[in-house]
Amino acid sequence: NKLYGLLGHPVGHSMSPLIHNDAFKALDIDATYQAFDVHPSQLKEAVDGIRALGLSGCNVTVPHKVAVMEFLDEVDEEARLIGAVNTIVNENGKLKGYNTDGRGYVESLLEQAQTNLSNKRILLVGAGGAARGVLVALLKEGIAHVSITNRTLEKAKPLLAIANELQTDAALIRLDEAESLLNQFDVIINTTSVGMSPNISDTPLSIHSLKQGVIVSDLIYNPLETLFLQEASQQGAEIANGVAMFVNQAALSFEYWTGIRPDRKKMEQLVLRQLG
Ligand code: ATR
Repeated sequence: NKLYGLLGHPVGHSMSPLIHNDAFKALDIDATYQAFDVHPSQLKEAVDGIRALGLSGCNVTVPHKVAVMEFLDEVDEEARLIGAVNTIVNENGKLKGYNTDGRGYVESLLEQAQTNLSNKRILLVGAGGAARGVLVALLKEGIAHVSITNRTLEKAKPLLAIANELQTDAALIRLDEAESLLNQFDVIINTTSVGMSPNISDTPLSIHSLKQGVIVSDLIYNPLETLFLQEASQQGAEIANGVAMFVNQAALSFEYWTGIRPDRKKMEQLVLRQLG
């Protein structure tokens, strides 16, 4: 029996054990996934525990995604650029870190858009770890026109450095500029925590006018429809919440561990049932 885990703090409400264990069962894989509540002061011991106990792999979640990196043996290029790890693979005692969050998001966006996004204009709201993941995945997908905005513009500068390292370009614009230019964007993505339960009456950006056919998406899935998405929908946007990203990042981690692509639709149904 192989053992997989989640390192986070807290982890009580995580849906990861549910969807991974269900996928193991459906695929007849003899494995178990368990959530571990790891206090930040004991993260190193927990990572050493992966080796000592022979866990085959782990997910890493808040608040450990950045801090865990220094305890790993290797970090893949994409995770290094993002500066955060959400997936660990134990390769015969050598722990390698990956990041599937950004790619999980971009796969959900491509599926929704059903069209090539390389010439579309994207507005990325936020500059934290989630924004870095999405930015790297967008740029690696060849999506060239990315503008970044954030409450604290200064904090978004490292994202420009990331774009630079990928030999691409991104623009930085103030929130008020973004609001006045909103109708130029084909895709608007909220990566901040603004609007997340319990602060459901906050929005990261005020929406005045939107481009015809715009996709507005929010990485948040609690609530399923943030006020930001509600307002965008009222203005005619196609909207998307964070459920697909959550499912896709899990599915991509599962693939790193097992080499098998799990049933994403089934994972999504389980998540929606849990949230609904
Ligand atoms: P994560 O790693 O989950 O992305 P983070 O690194 O804490 O989280 O980043 C949080 C993001 O949400 C940042 O872009 C932050 O803006 P600042 O850089 O200005 O702090 C944004 N954010 C959080 N609370 C916010 C609020 N009340 N209003 C506007 N932006 C907020």
